[in-house]
Amino acid sequence: TDVYQKGLKYQRPPFTFKPLDWEHLAGERMSADSYGYVIGSAGSGETARKNRAAFERWSIVPRRLVKTDGFPDLSVSVLGQKLPFPIACAPVGVQKIMNPDGEVAAAAAAAKEHVPFIMSTASSTSIEDVAKASGDGTRWFQLYWPLNEHNDITISMLDRAKKAGFTALFVTLDTYILGWRPSDMDNGYNPFLRSDQVGVAIGLTDPVFRSHFKQKHGKEIEEDMNAAVAEWTRTVFPGRSHSFEDVKFLQEHWKGPIVLKGIQSVEDAKTCVEIGVQGIVVSNHGGRQSDGGNSSLGVLPRIVDAVGDKLDVLFDSGIRCGADIAKALALGAKMCLVGRPYIYGLVLGGEGGVSHVLKSLLGDLELTLHLAGIRSSLPEHLNRSVLVKEDD
Ligand code: FNR
Repeated sequence: TDVYQKGLKYQRPPFTFKPLDWEHLAGERMSADSYGYVIGSAGSGETARKNRAAFERWSIVPRRLVKTDGFPDLSVSVLGQKLPFPIACAPVGVQKIMNPDGEVAAAAAAAKEHVPFIMSTASSTSIEDVAKASGDGTRWFQLYWPLNEHNDITISMLDRAKKAGFTALFVTLDTYILGWRPSDMDNGYNPFLRSDQVGVAIGLTDPVFRSHFKQKHGKEIEEDMNAAVAEWTRTVFPGRSHSFEDVKFLQEHWKGPIVLKGIQSVEDAKTCVEIGVQGIVVSNHGGRQSDGGNSSLGVLPRIVDAVGDKLDVLFDSGIRCGADIAKALALGAKMCLVGRPYIYGLVLGGEGGVSHVLKSLLGDLELTLHLAGIRSSLPEHLNRSVLVKEDD
């Protein structure tokens, strides 16, 4: 409510509180290439459109005369950790194309707002520098997973992340190659192959990758940056998928919670339980990977019914406002990852812009629950009993 109170005291926000305006305002500040990359989605955009449309199929039914001591408690317990808020910054790569301060600004804002920051393998800042910016904030590491022949590079990344205080490992399963994204193809744009090397910060600072490169090419990375960038891109987007059996390798080398990101089917969710990972993210990568898919919110209840009592089900793809977060939690998600909105904040105001977006989402969520008579974001108060389906 801090945000709301300041609004009432006529302190102007750095930019609008209207969440659906952030996208086009960010567009006015960005080059066509980078804007196309951020808003872009796969194919005809069907999956991305369905992600958004799905939220309006559910409605929150407010209850009256629910006497409470104060504002709702937004804290959650996820991956064995108690956290004050039910959102996290989704892993988003190449943040220096959004703002020169990139991940440093975003991670600092997330820490300040007590929201976990999930760092991407495709970051434009090294693991160690993101850790420094994140300070004592909660930070998790997202892996784009090299093939088994490069297990030593994977181990090196995991060791670095662990040493730098990243406590959980998110493994993204839906992006062993980038999706069919017409906006980037129209622009002839791939952020990883840019001459300023924004997408390869982790590779360029990785001792194991560097020695691989030297062995293969007979020279240092600095002597042939183009080859190094191409090599790293092939390493983390190898064009082929792992199998569920390979997860064992990660479990042996990562002491801490492992979360598989990109789950959309009940069958896969059940396999995740069998292999003993701690969590999944029901996500379709914001509709950026496969076209013609389900909305991520649409598949959430089925997956929660099948595995929700056996591992932590997290959710992303399409969250834009407080009510969206409330609906995903009511359908059984433990936490929501927010992708594009905080990136628009980064474009519009750097660290302060990311803070503004996170605080707006949380303030909006808090009042949405409060005015619906829902006392907390925990499942005993926020569950399917607060929702009706519009077409029922
Ligand atoms: C992403 N996403 C993503 N995911 C991931 O696991 N690693 C990554 O490096 C990236 N990079 C990335 C870049 C950009 C520009 C976007 C928009 C997204 C996907 C992200 O983590 C998340 O799944 C979606 O963004 C969620 O959808 P919304 O919130 O953007 O609708």
